Amino acid sequence: MAKITASVYTSHVPAIGAALDLGKSHEPYWQPVFAGYDNSRQWLRENRPDVIFLVYNDHATAFSLELIPTFAIGCAAEFKPADEGWGPRPVPTVVGHPELAAHIAQSVIQDDFDLTIVNKMDVDHGLTVPLSLMCGALDPARDRWPCAIIPFAVNVVQYPVPSGRRCFMLGQAIRRAVESFDQPLNVQIWGTGGMSHQLQGARAGLINREWDNAFLERLIADPEGLSKMPHVDYVREAGSEGIELVMWLIARGAMADVAGGPAPTVRHRFYHVPASNTAVGHLILENH
Ligand code: DHB
Ligand code: FE
Repeated sequence: MAKITASVYTSHVPAIGAALDLGKSHEPYWQPVFAGYDNSRQWLRENRPDVIFLVYNDHATAFSLELIPTFAIGCAAEFKPADEGWGPRPVPTVVGHPELAAHIAQSVIQDDFDLTIVNKMDVDHGLTVPLSLMCGALDPARDRWPCAIIPFAVNVVQYPVPSGRRCFMLGQAIRRAVESFDQPLNVQIWGTGGMSHQLQGARAGLINREWDNAFLERLIADPEGLSKMPHVDYVREAGSEGIELVMWLIARGAMADVAGGPAPTVRHRFYHVPASNTAVGHLILENH
């Protein structure tokens, strides 16, 4: 039986990827951001999973207004880093896990969640920046990401986006799917995007430190209650792009306590403002 051993939550600011790729991570502006992940990189080396189920959002890179899946599961053997306008990031190709991905698609769709199956897809900063933060700089000519990765894309770009409640329930279905896979795999689930930020309009630059920290508290201690928060609260309090945070509820819903198990251990918590236009939030929760 496969098992979800931990969940990781992190922002995905594209400028963080650029800072790493251009060798700027030690500059005074970026140093405190990367320092917040030092423990996490060590933790991932010590707690290396077989597979990361990586919940993220595509930013009109692989998808566009022509095609908008609400939930899309990457079932391919590999996923290339996307060209977002400056050439693909110099990071390794993502190696998938087609067998587990196909099993999760089968199980979750039979569990009444409609997923789009994706057999070819490039992955943008939404997926590669969280990996870079957790793994550090890697040379694509020589290095690999530490394990297989199943990309799971959520539409948080074009309304209507899925509710927090639906994301939380989907996480529970993903846990059931993983636990019914008959190979003894160690699986982590990552929820990415957020925290407060708004990139457009009159409130561009909005950050809400107090609200973000209350979100982190509730994500740890009251995820079910948090999942009932309506979209308008995210957008009003955390900005138009703060809605990316609903993806964290998918990862949180997959943790053991939600199904009656013991509360997770908070292994690491970090919050920093600013990184580009965004408040960076990060959490690691371990199952027992
Ligand atoms: C920024 C943040 C994002 O989540 C994103 O997708 C693009 C840009 C930013 O802070 O610049
Ligand atoms: Fe984003």
